[in-house]
Amino acid sequence: MNFLLITTCAFIATTSAQSTDCISQNLAVDVVAALEATLTHVGNVTQIGNALLADDFVEISDSILSLQSLPLGGVSAPSKQAWIEGISHSPADTNITTLDIGVVCPNKILWQWQFNAVGRAPYPVKGFNYIVMDDCPQIQTMYIEFNSIAWALDDGELNSSATA
Ligand SMILES: *[C@@H]1O[C@H](CO)[C@@H](O)[C@H](O)[C@H]1NC(C)=O
Ligand SMILES: *[C@@H]1O[C@H](CO)[C@@H](O)[C@H](O)[C@H]1NC(C)=O
Ligand SMILES: *[C@@H]1O[C@H](CO)[C@@H](O)[C@H](O)[C@H]1NC(C)=O
Repeated sequence: MNFLLITTCAFIATTSAQSTDCISQNLAVDVVAALEATLTHVGNVTQIGNALLADDFVEISDSILSLQSLPLGGVSAPSKQAWIEGISHSPADTNITTLDIGVVCPNKILWQWQFNAVGRAPYPVKGFNYIVMDDCPQIQTMYIEFNSIAWALDDGELNSSATA
């Protein structure tokens, strides 16, 4: 699979066009494939996470914080290690549809997705990852926002008759 290309920083740095103004669409597709392999647990989350995420990685998501009833505006994963632990211990998201992958020059990737099998899954959940790559290139910051009400209804955190 493509994500295996992202093995070391040095490999990517020599093969991607660092002299241009923008990361390549191919890199964007590889990064999304690697992320998806971790979320679905198809790949080794520790191995891929270590290759994919920068040492100063943070994840920022009010959608995730609100699902956890935590104050908004903070980080949802404070470090690479915390993210790897979190994904490793979460259930695999088995059915993810990629709706679009775009590059926002010079160094960002927009991944629009739909998770089809969250919990009991009455609702598909649409959302975006907005991914900031560093020069390595590894993921430095990942912003995630999605339909957290649909997610909460799917996995039983919200009672739909109470909100109707
Ligand atoms: C995943 O990779 C890590 C680090 O290389 C390794 O220690 C672990 O055994 C691997 N896990 C599986 C399930 O292969
Ligand atoms: C994944 O979800 C889509 C949309 O709900 C559905 O059409 C498809 O059959 C599902 N695939 C699997 C393997 O469950
Ligand atoms: C949802 O709330 C209604 C009304 O309070 C209650 O009757 C029902 O048992 C609740 N369902 C679940 C799954 O908690």
